[in-house]
Amino acid sequence: MLEKIEEIKAEALKQLDGINDARDLESWRIHYLGKKSPLTQILRSLSTLSIEEKKAVGAAANQLKTLLDSSAGQKGQSLRDAQLASETAREEIDISLPGRPYPVGHLHPITQTINEMCEIFGSMGFQIIEGPDVEWDYYNFEALNIPAEHPARDSMSTFWIDTPKGKRQPLLRTHTTAVTARTLEKMEPPIRAVEPGRLFRYEASDATHIPMFSQVDGIAVDRGITMADLKGTLYEFSRRFFGEDRKVRFRVDYFPFVEPGVEMAIECIVCRGSGCRLCANSGWIEILGAGMTHPDVLRRGGIDPEEYTSFAFGIGVERPHMLRYGVDDVRSYFTSDLRFLRQF
Ligand code: DAH
Repeated sequence: MLEKIEEIKAEALKQLDGINDARDLESWRIHYLGKKSPLTQILRSLSTLSIEEKKAVGAAANQLKTLLDSSAGQKGQSLRDAQLASETAREEIDISLPGRPYPVGHLHPITQTINEMCEIFGSMGFQIIEGPDVEWDYYNFEALNIPAEHPARDSMSTFWIDTPKGKRQPLLRTHTTAVTARTLEKMEPPIRAVEPGRLFRYEASDATHIPMFSQVDGIAVDRGITMADLKGTLYEFSRRFFGEDRKVRFRVDYFPFVEPGVEMAIECIVCRGSGCRLCANSGWIEILGAGMTHPDVLRRGGIDPEEYTSFAFGIGVERPHMLRYGVDDVRSYFTSDLRFLRQF
């Protein structure tokens, strides 16, 4: 009997050694420790043995049972450890891998240009003021010497906004000069302000026209302001924006809200004055409108034109950007084509 027990022990331990997965371990357990196992049978048959034998065989059999039990437990634990180790190895995170690049955007070229213009005027002491895109007739037209039936309204085809009968009808502002009218009403001189923003004109679009574009208007009000201040300020703007060596030209122009009114042009970007397609052979490209603020406009803003004088200007934003980078279709800015926008 004792020999049999030794045999079982040797065989069981040897087999256990070769086991590599949980299912085999379970079969092994049933085989060596289950109800029908040889060891269980030996334990059951103890009653048939003499007292002497019972002691010796019983002790040996129970010892083996304990040994096999704990060996199986250890084996199970080492199998679980090995499995965990291999799973961890598979799922390991390699922290040395470079991160996934994510797309980084940037400001729209028109926003960049507005910021640049505002920075230039800001460095000359102008503050930045914004006004509403949806505006009253008063600020867009009346306050600026453009009453109903005035021909200047024709040059700025307006988007009117539907309202219930009898209510004041708002519009989409047709120039940022509307913000100037608000600034004059709101602020006391001395005033130095630039007013960037969108504006809207009811027009079909083509390579040089779009129904929504941007301007930066400006206004300076103080005692003793003259045309020389206007020219000095805008020369400086041109030097900083278009470059030191680009010639600038002022010519008389008409805008209802200034007197005298001027237009400022820069030497053509392409031909530098000799004449080409871009400048229609004139050698010059118009950049902005300006002038000495009309006394009636100041008066409507509550400013006494006998005491204060003022100059104003309005610069388009898209055109200078187009000229600088050779963009030939203004619609490109608003088609959201990233191939175009990423260039700036
Ligand atoms: N508002 C004018 C336009 O949209 C531009 C302009 C001209 C603005 C003269 C001014 C100015 O402030 O003084 O065509």
